[in-house]
Amino acid sequence: MAKKELSVGELSRRSGLPISTLHFYERRGLIASERTSANHRVYRREILRRVTVIKVAQSAGIPLAEISQALSQLPRDAPPDTHDWERIAASWHDDLTRRIEILTALRDKMAMCIGCGCLSVKRCPLVNADDHLANDGPGARLL
Ligand code: FES
Repeated sequence: MAKKELSVGELSRRSGLPISTLHFYERRGLIASERTSANHRVYRREILRRVTVIKVAQSAGIPLAEISQALSQLPRDAPPDTHDWERIAASWHDDLTRRIEILTALRDKMAMCIGCGCLSVKRCPLVNADDHLANDGPGARLL
């Protein structure tokens, strides 16, 4: 039968994250440990999934504050179930779609700008990417 808790070293090995990162997550309230009678830090096994979600979300560019906010919706006294994780994934769906669109546009426009290097506020789509009104002509378009 598997142990119910993981030491910080075991959590580090299983997650692939340094112990210092796990302590950082704990200081930020993203994960929580318990103390043994010998005052050693231990983590419930479901913390491994939480750490994996944090790692994947960070690699997708989701800020730690947003990850923290989403994880705060999970139950405190019971392991999250499939519906809990689906709710978090759904809450990030639109934001991730928006990030993908921005990065795709950046990738495509960057190819156009390589070799130019002007970074002109007036005409470079990388510098002024959201200037949709520039297509209507120069000057203030909303006055
Ligand atoms: S760098 Fe010249 S148009 Fe973007």
